[in-house]
Amino acid sequence: MARVAVSRRLPFPAVERLEQAHDVVTWEEDHPIPAADLRALCAGADGLLCMLTDRVDDALLSAAPTLRAVSVYAVGTDNVDRPAARAHGIAVGHTPDVLTEATADIAFALLLAAARRLPEAAADVRAGRWHTWSPDGWLGLELHGATLGIIGAGRIGQAVARRAAGFGMEVITARPLPVEAVLERADVVSLHVPLTDATRHLIDADALARMKPGAILVNTARGPIVDQAALADALRSGHLGAAALDVTDPEPLPPDDPLLDAPNVLVLPHVGSATHTTRARMADLAVDNLLAALDGRPMPHPVAL
Ligand code: DGY
Repeated sequence: MARVAVSRRLPFPAVERLEQAHDVVTWEEDHPIPAADLRALCAGADGLLCMLTDRVDDALLSAAPTLRAVSVYAVGTDNVDRPAARAHGIAVGHTPDVLTEATADIAFALLLAAARRLPEAAADVRAGRWHTWSPDGWLGLELHGATLGIIGAGRIGQAVARRAAGFGMEVITARPLPVEAVLERADVVSLHVPLTDATRHLIDADALARMKPGAILVNTARGPIVDQAALADALRSGHLGAAALDVTDPEPLPPDDPLLDAPNVLVLPHVGSATHTTRARMADLAVDNLLAALDGRPMPHPVAL
């Protein structure tokens, strides 16, 4: 029996499989575990099941010399310092595929909401500003015939492209097209790249300036891919039509963050994978990864280090 640290309570059946096989210690609080507490939780542990909010770096791995495997309860693993994991000989796993459709749904929901100005229209109804049907009231972007630019045409990007095709949109993608060409041609740009050193602030002031006047930016990938101050400027100047984000930098976004004062910005609290089915399947994969590694087998869903 190995010792497993779990950095957040996961109310899904998969956890029982872990508890039956191993000695599990769980951080029970309903907020991310502070770094010092994570180090304490991992002391003497062989495996760690962690959240995207937990930093897995040299400091943690050095403090937990018995650790052999880290299973991230997410597809994105930018919270893991890969060179450090490699240096410490740690197997790292993640949860690809199972959250593709749920995340693509949220990307498309954001796209629709921003294109048709749903938050603004709904707020106007509640505030008593719905005085009459009006020929030019709440006019938005017609998706049929509009161009969607996908930056990062991996699993989730392709799932968003399938939805866009169903809405009669033209879809263009970065690779084969250069990112610049996608930014210049798209009416809506949707981001689906992982966060790496190469993609941090990929969408900066220059990139935003390349976007069509009135274009919409959708981000369901990771917040730091966008330079948020530049985004707020592009919205304030009126160059960008709207931004619809499921991810921000930082997370959670403080309610007094200047981005929230910019016009036409819609922000969700990182809920791309938040369906009952998807979160339970993510737990299945995260547990499968850990059980395999602790059993001396390759993880079924490994992260290349
Ligand atoms: C992920 O898995 O990387 C998502 O951002 C959260 O589910």
